[in-house]
Amino acid sequence: MTQTVDLLIENAARVLLPTFGSSEHGNRTGEDRRPSSQNDQKGANGVFGSEGLSVAILGDKIKAVGPASEIAGRFHALKTLDASGRLLTPGFVDSHTHLVFAGDRSGEFEMRCRGADYEEIAASGGGIRASVRATRAASEDELYAESLPRLERMIAGGTTTVEIKSGYGLDLETELRMLRVARRLGETTPARVVTTFMGAHDFPDGFRENRDAYVNLIIETMIPAVAKEGLAEFCDVFCERGVFTPEQTRRVLEAGKAAGLRPKVHADEMAPSGGSEVAAEVGAVSADHLMKTTDASIAKLREAGVVATLLPGTTFFLGKECFAPARKMLDAGLTVALATDRNPGSCTVESMSFIVGLACLRMGMSPLEGFAAATVGGAAALGLTGVTGQIAEGFAADLILWETSHEGRICYEFENHLARTVIAGGNIIEG
Ligand code: NIG
Ligand code: FE
Repeated sequence: MTQTVDLLIENAARVLLPTFGSSEHGNRTGEDRRPSSQNDQKGANGVFGSEGLSVAILGDKIKAVGPASEIAGRFHALKTLDASGRLLTPGFVDSHTHLVFAGDRSGEFEMRCRGADYEEIAASGGGIRASVRATRAASEDELYAESLPRLERMIAGGTTTVEIKSGYGLDLETELRMLRVARRLGETTPARVVTTFMGAHDFPDGFRENRDAYVNLIIETMIPAVAKEGLAEFCDVFCERGVFTPEQTRRVLEAGKAAGLRPKVHADEMAPSGGSEVAAEVGAVSADHLMKTTDASIAKLREAGVVATLLPGTTFFLGKECFAPARKMLDAGLTVALATDRNPGSCTVESMSFIVGLACLRMGMSPLEGFAAATVGGAAALGLTGVTGQIAEGFAADLILWETSHEGRICYEFENHLARTVIAGGNIIEG
């Protein structure tokens, strides 16, 4: 008796099955696991001997994964995709973006091309505060209309889950508006959108001489309002020299935790600023950036089970050479995630293929480690382990069927938009 499913992806030549094992704060990115029926077969991750692998999808979930002949015998499908000779991977989980904002900062980009420094531009009133002025002036519909094409391009590239932060409002009304737009993007596109309140992204004009007053405003007014409307899952702080101190970061994250928002930290981006230590102390889900992090911080993150989210696109876009020490982190057993950091000032990259390629070229990661960090690693950074980012029974049917047969080729041709079919929540994304 065969069971009817909605979609069968048949006979893939290679399937990436990255896993951390069962724990959400598991050990490392890039480990391989094959379905039990395949354990006797030799070969690298996801190579299934002479026989391909098929995936059966029912509704928005993966119903079964197994050898092509076994799946063909068990299931009948309303629609099939022939995956012969192709690679199947989980959809990308882009676990760190600031993609809701108004305007652009191309003028500032030109200044940087002539030698101006990102931190100097920010200190003189540009940077994040320039985007704050534009975002405050935009209506909810305008913000949505400006942000939607960015998300649509990401989905076409294979991103099926994306985290979006607020932080270009820095006042109650605009922060809430940004989060509502992020929620609406999740409701109106095939992507799964996870939202993060980041009122602590910078100090707005009017509070720059009285910074603790702004921290109090975040704690006493913004966090309760965000929590009351159920607008965010996470709370994030830019802990950096010249921005939020470790003590201010701790206060905001503890207040967020008390309101049900799980902590994340922008840590050690420009300098070792204490962000990793705070992340470990408050039990953050992730510490992000980490370009300038130290060996001692890596050990603390490891002990506390904090995911290290690396954003090599930002290092690249800022014209810096100090890529995060990914190799050390992987070797120390940290869970590593890769994400774009898409934002108007420090990284305009939207493509996770580009990010994975950069991780290979500049951070010493293998293509397989890169793909694992961009899928199951991203899921861990969003508390979505067991939900998406892996190809196994019960997971969301968030997948990419590539027209090439090996992830190494994708990393090698990272900016060539290699052909792919994206499946989000069981739906084939057209176009
Ligand atoms: O993650 N580091 C802080 N925030 C962003 C930059 C935002 C901006 O420049 O607009 C980042 O890199
Ligand atoms: Fe960021």
